[in-house]
Amino acid sequence: MNGLSGKHILLGVTGGIAAYKSAELVRQLRQQGAEVRVVMTAAAMEFVTPLTFQALSGHPVHLDLLDTGAEAAMGHIELARWADTLLIAPATADFIARIVSGRADDLLTAVCLACDAAVAVAPAMNSVMWGNPATANNILTLEKRGVRILGPAEGSLACGESGPGRMLEPAQLVSAVTALFNTGLLAGRRVLVTAGPTREAIDPVRYISNRSSGRMGFAVATAAAEAGANVVLVSGPVSLTTPARVRRIDVESAAEMHAAVMNDIAYCDIFISVAAVADYRPAITAQQKLKKTAATLSLELTRNPDILAAVAALPDAPFCVGFAAETQAIDSNAREKMRAKNLDMIAANAVGQQQGFDQEDNALHVLWAQGEQQLALTGKAKLARQLVAIIAERLENTTRSETKTRQQKVVRIHAKDSTQDSRSTPR
Ligand code: C5P
Repeated sequence: MNGLSGKHILLGVTGGIAAYKSAELVRQLRQQGAEVRVVMTAAAMEFVTPLTFQALSGHPVHLDLLDTGAEAAMGHIELARWADTLLIAPATADFIARIVSGRADDLLTAVCLACDAAVAVAPAMNSVMWGNPATANNILTLEKRGVRILGPAEGSLACGESGPGRMLEPAQLVSAVTALFNTGLLAGRRVLVTAGPTREAIDPVRYISNRSSGRMGFAVATAAAEAGANVVLVSGPVSLTTPARVRRIDVESAAEMHAAVMNDIAYCDIFISVAAVADYRPAITAQQKLKKTAATLSLELTRNPDILAAVAALPDAPFCVGFAAETQAIDSNAREKMRAKNLDMIAANAVGQQQGFDQEDNALHVLWAQGEQQLALTGKAKLARQLVAIIAERLENTTRSETKTRQQKVVRIHAKDSTQDSRSTPR
């Protein structure tokens, strides 16, 4: 399995001799399925040429902050937004000092300042520079800000000395970056996600459906699995590959989705309803293909079950998260939906304007009873990870008594199961 499949890794290369190892790092990141873009500082170009990184990453290398052409192609904000992880390797003592002081006077420092993704730094320098209290303080500051410090290793250095200061080897950096995605935030939790559209049959060849691509739901399932959860994904018809470590159940209609969800929900701690479930289905599905005889044709529609509301109404309901795609009064409509369906959380988004349905990017306003968080426009994979982090935090904050109720529920279900097992076991 490729541990970084589909991940966007933005690699910052600064001016140290270890920059030559970063060429191999790009190759290994891509071997693990990552998409890699490279930003180089002016000093880095003294050691390795941009052409090397361009050839290995398959993309032009980003070099300038104040170049209008480069900014128009993919500017510093867009690069920062694109990144799932920003890895600075090698990071020189000078570059570390510059990001500590919040500089933004070249492309890489500006990207660091604009990036809300996980940032990892792989220091590489002479061991005395590494041991200097100025560097030690800078490293401490970065750690306090949540920046991951990868290494350095001990060994012989390019300056002829020996000691701490060697950049970690590319394979070690690849493992460390992979570990950044496996957060463990939902370790041991059981999560059920619905995704995609549903199809409501009119006759054997026609159906009513919607524009949902399933990408957001699949991204949420992926993020939950990476966070350590045991994930079941109930999906309508989509053309997407099943995320790693996820059990997928394919369905077509809302009725089938309802049945599949209810079949698995008893064991779940969290239900995330991302599917664009059709609200109505034809009252009658014709057994034969309808003929175009009359000038007009009326279809009678009947309401589908509201799967999310049904789950939230269960006596031992899991933590329920809904999605609300809205075209107007987004927040108030979403809050009303959360109240009406008795949800723990709702993720609202505006549809249209290059986001939402059938688009690569999305923005979400996540609302719960006592709070809210705005998640800015970005790729759906990154957004899903941010949402999963919020869900994990809210779940952690549920009161002890609620947690106890859930645990009792699971114990009760297991007890019931074992009774059934013992009944079916021949004596
Ligand atoms: O009411 P509305 O369709 O806007 O609510 C959206 C939320 O409800 C989504 O989370 C969607 O997955 C869920 N839903 C459902 N069953 C339906 C309709 C919507 O689970 N029949």
